Amino acid sequence: MTPRRDATMSTAEKTFSKGLEGVIAAQTEMSFINGTEGILEYVGIAIGDLAKNSSFEETVFLLWNKRLPTQSELEAFNNELRANYSMCDAMKQRIKACPVDAEPMHVLRTLVSSMAMDDASPNENSVEAARHKALQILATTPAVVAGFDRHRRGLDFIEPDTSLSFAANFLYLLNGEKPTPAMERAFDICMITHADHGLNNSTFTARVIISTLSDMYSAITGAIGSLRGPLHGGANEGVMKMLNEIPTVDDVEPYIMNKIKNKDRIMGFGHRVYKAKDPRAAELMTLAKQLADDTGNSDLYEKSHAIELIMEREYASKGIYPNVDFYSATTYHCIGLKLDLFTPMFALSRIAGWSGHVIEQLGDNRLFRPTTDYVGPHDAPYTPISER
Ligand code: SDX
Repeated sequence: MTPRRDATMSTAEKTFSKGLEGVIAAQTEMSFINGTEGILEYVGIAIGDLAKNSSFEETVFLLWNKRLPTQSELEAFNNELRANYSMCDAMKQRIKACPVDAEPMHVLRTLVSSMAMDDASPNENSVEAARHKALQILATTPAVVAGFDRHRRGLDFIEPDTSLSFAANFLYLLNGEKPTPAMERAFDICMITHADHGLNNSTFTARVIISTLSDMYSAITGAIGSLRGPLHGGANEGVMKMLNEIPTVDDVEPYIMNKIKNKDRIMGFGHRVYKAKDPRAAELMTLAKQLADDTGNSDLYEKSHAIELIMEREYASKGIYPNVDFYSATTYHCIGLKLDLFTPMFALSRIAGWSGHVIEQLGDNRLFRPTTDYVGPHDAPYTPISER
């Protein structure tokens, strides 16, 4: 049966790329990725330079304003963010209504969605309104994640400390004590390296949703749903589970070779765009080693590094290298985060990128509506049910 082509488009115009691989579906001024050479730049600045010199707050300003802030602009942005650290009472009540055994990513998706009910004009999509919503969601979500973790542990909420940075405030809200400068900086670097990354699945989800002129809350909610998947942001939890399954560094070779034999996916490796080492993995590897040594978790780093060497031997020829999720697992563990909070950490940071893309999409919108290559039957008869 030869499928009838859609008369409105020539065959040449109608190309099918499974998973939209290699298809340019949007233009952006935020992240540039060269997958062949393993390059990532935020508004032209190399991720390594930002990880070494910037802060998450400064990086968010850069992504949203397409330039670095002056000292006074950064101070004003910090103050604006800190003024929105606190959850409203309605949100606190919602957290208390959550089952203590609920998965944090399901809680996060649900509660971010509920933020629309705390907004007097949730559907307002002007650039100014979208920026304000983005800032509120970014600033408040740490308290939501930390609040749910304390709720499930039977502990009271901690009120935010507006003298603290984004990174320090989250760890304070979670643990009830201010982090050491080293832990604050480590978490800050994690937030910088996860903030944006071109048209990844969750960012694409956000752009698709806002392209119907829906709203920021719906777009960010959809993006969280996408990020949770183990092929995307959920991989960092998969990496930690893998590291926990391997007793010692001597067990790495047989464990990994068995997975390869079974054609299992090794979490934290491979990427649709990078066919070289993810530059974020390089930054997080350095951080993971330092933190592992400082916190008595050297075995975690040694196992991770052993896995990387085996994967390089077995898979580098296929362009499969560590991605951002591989060393973020060890880093988050050494910072003291529970395994099921790893992907929520990815989300805390990526809200910056998602909302930046939502605002870009609103600025030059066209409804996303791809087409399909229909390969089903034609001219089929309707058979009465009595004759089926
Ligand atoms: C993130 O897009 C982004 O930018 C995402 C992200 C971001 O910042 O937003 O960078 C964050 O999501 C990083 C990726 C985290 N996911 C994982 O670590 C899960 C494990 N990785 C794979 O599932 C895979 O690499 C993907 C999903 C990330 C990418 O897959 P593709 O591009 O669809 O490639 P594919 O599945 O077609 O694989 C091509 C080949 C296959 O072998 P063959 O069937 O051709 O023989 O490579 C193999 C795959 O089996 N392969 C792997 C592998 N990844 C790909 N084999 C073993 N282990 C892996 N991890």
